[in-house]
Amino acid sequence: MNPTQSLIKDLAEKYGRKRENLLPILQGVVKQEKYLSEYSMVEIAREIDIPAAEVYGTATFYSFLEAKKMGKYVIRVCRTITCAMKGKTQVIFAIQDMLKIKIGETTPDGRFSLLETNCLGWCHKAPAMLINDEVYTDLTPEKVREILSAYMKKNHL
Ligand code: FES
Repeated sequence: MNPTQSLIKDLAEKYGRKRENLLPILQGVVKQEKYLSEYSMVEIAREIDIPAAEVYGTATFYSFLEAKKMGKYVIRVCRTITCAMKGKTQVIFAIQDMLKIKIGETTPDGRFSLLETNCLGWCHKAPAMLINDEVYTDLTPEKVREILSAYMKKNHL
């Protein structure tokens, strides 16, 4: 068994071999390997016994496929309806302004990437975003600036 196979097996054991656990399994692979290869997607499909197309579809939906060229911290801001109505645009502006990058870009030092994603299931606390696999909710431009400042400091250690 190669390292990717044993990682996927461990994650499947931890979260359970069910299709509703696909997201945490995908997150676990991206966290460990820094991106999601086609090989990993096929292995995940095999491990939890669902079609590879479904793994691919979920990975695309949550923009995990772009993880290849991503920075150390990948920010994914929810763009779906509730977050859109509750100010995700202001949140994105605050992030863009602070990091000097646009959606889809990575800072030149390779620390932060900014993406949009679809509903994260935190609509009741919208707007929401992920930084790697950490969820942040009830965002405002001020709150986002505080969160990013903390990440910037953390990265200097
Ligand atoms: Fe953004 Fe659901 S709409 S978390």
